[in-house]
Amino acid sequence: MTPQELVVCALDAQKHAYAPYSGFRVGAALLTKGGRVYLGCNIENQSFSPTVCAERVALFKAVSEGETEFEAVAVVGCGRDGVYRPFCTPCGVCRQTLAEFCAPDFKIFFGDDAGACEAHTLSELLPYAFSMAEPTT
Ligand code: THU
Repeated sequence: MTPQELVVCALDAQKHAYAPYSGFRVGAALLTKGGRVYLGCNIENQSFSPTVCAERVALFKAVSEGETEFEAVAVVGCGRDGVYRPFCTPCGVCRQTLAEFCAPDFKIFFGDDAGACEAHTLSELLPYAFSMAEPTT
């Protein structure tokens, strides 16, 4: 699966975003090392704090089905105006949650509906991730 194909999956996931409060709709597509793709969208709540980001929905779906090894995630997002953010980056909570299961070289693609796809790694986005283990780098 190419990064661009994973972005298309994230755009598919975004269709189910439930974001009546912020109007900001996010989709995520998480690729396992075995080649399966898990989709997630943001799911908001009128009590605000129970809101869950698209990335964590995808990750929790995957882990709850026994997946623990991941290759990459693609993320897309746009506001009420429908204009895609060139860099819809995972929030800090999602980065730390991904770091629980994903290696420093895990790839994160920022995409949009026009074919853009910028690649980063988890260690770029979350240097010095919290860990109770001894640092390896
Ligand atoms: N959101 C995500 O889905 N992923 C992120 O990494 C950051 C933010 C969602 C949460 C909320 O529903 C909306 O975007 C606005 O913050």
